[in-house]
Amino acid sequence: MYYLDMHNHIIPGVDDGSRNMEMSLQMLDHAYNEGIRALILTPHYHGGYVETERSRIDEVFAQLKELSAKVHPELKLFIGSEIYYYPSVPEWIEEGRVHTLADSSYVLIEFSPAVEKRELTDAVKNICSFGYRPVLAHVERYDCLVRDPGLIEDLIGRGAYIQVNSRSVTGEGGMRIRRFIKKLLKEEWIHFIGTDAHSMGSRKPDMAECAEYILKKCDEEYASAILFGNAVNIVNNKSVRRL
Ligand SMILES: [Fe+2]
Repeated sequence: MYYLDMHNHIIPGVDDGSRNMEMSLQMLDHAYNEGIRALILTPHYHGGYVETERSRIDEVFAQLKELSAKVHPELKLFIGSEIYYYPSVPEWIEEGRVHTLADSSYVLIEFSPAVEKRELTDAVKNICSFGYRPVLAHVERYDCLVRDPGLIEDLIGRGAYIQVNSRSVTGEGGMRIRRFIKKLLKEEWIHFIGTDAHSMGSRKPDMAECAEYILKKCDEEYASAILFGNAVNIVNNKSVRRL
C-alpha cells in the first residue's frame, strides 16, 4: 500500500522546516522510501511570526517540483499551508494570502498546545461558515483533547476533520499520547495521518512504521482511508466520510 502525506514542511527556506533545496530533495527521497507517493506541502503561516509571501512559496515550490520530477517522476506534489488559527483565517484565504490544502476547500489549522475547547469549537464554526472544511493539525498536542478525547467526537460533529502525526502514532510523544491515539483509532475519529516532517534530523518524513502499526490495529478499509484515500479526496476536493 502507498501513502499520501498531507502535512509537512519540505519546501525549503520558507519556515522552520527544510533549510535548503538539497535537504528538501533528501526529505522527498526518504518519503518515497517510506512508501509515500504523493505529498501536500504545508509551510507554516503564523500571522505576525511566519508570513512568507505566497508568491515566494509558489516560486520555490515550482523549483522543487521540477527537481523532484527528475529523481522520482511518479511522486506527486501539491501545495497547501498550515495556518495558525486566528479568527481572520477565512479572510486570509479569500485574499489569497494562504493556500488551502491542494487548493481544495480543506484548510489545515493549528493552535497553541494550551488551546481550550471554546476556541476549537469557535474556529470550526468560523471556518465552516465560510464554506471551508477545517482539518485540525496534530490533535495529540492539545492538552484539552488528550484529557477528554470525547471532545473530538463533538468537534467532528461540528464539521472538523482530525489529523495526527505519524511519529506520535509510533510513540514519539510518550505513552499518554500513544494511548490517546489508540483510543482515536479504535473510535475511527482520525481522518488523516501526516508526517509533519521538518528536516532530515529527528523530524524526518517517517511513515512506514506508523503504517505497519495502523494496518495491524485497524480494519483494512479504515487504515487505507486514513493513510491514503481520505487525502486523495482532499486533492480531488471531494467529501471525506466524517464518522
Ligand atoms: Fe506542521
